[in-house]
Amino acid sequence: MNRIITFGTYDVLHIGHIKLLKRAKSLGSHLIVGVSSDELNRDKKGREPIYPLKSRLEIISSLKFVDEVFVEDSLDLKAEYITSHNADILVMGDDWEGRFDHLKKYCDVVYLPRTPSISTTEVIEIIKEKA
Ligand code: CTP
Repeated sequence: MNRIITFGTYDVLHIGHIKLLKRAKSLGSHLIVGVSSDELNRDKKGREPIYPLKSRLEIISSLKFVDEVFVEDSLDLKAEYITSHNADILVMGDDWEGRFDHLKKYCDVVYLPRTPSISTTEVIEIIKEKA
């Protein structure tokens, strides 16, 4: 039974996140989600997350298809996270296509298509426009 690992910020949860996580879970029996720390999100996306780490961890761990969550502190520790969680498959959205192929020596790497026309950034922009 495959153990799946995936990563993301999951700020202002939306349908693209849900579809990605559901499809990831369907590839195995145990889904582990690395949730970006607030600091990593600031480095990666150049903004403060709307929901702090503690809330994002609680939201993601409440989803019925998520079995385990942990904090991703660095983008450079993927190999360590994969091995320490005994993951068989790394799942990433295809916005990262090819970028994690070097991890194929640790586990299978699968890129899943993103859900079109939605992102946390877009949701924030729409809310700002309406405010
Ligand atoms: N994702 C997806 N479809 C979308 C948006 C995100 O499949 N429309 C996936 C990403 O590929 C990633 C996971 O959801 O595997 C978490 O993505 P995250 O970066 O947290 O969400 P985004 O909406 O892309 O955030 P942002 O706009 O801040 O970049």
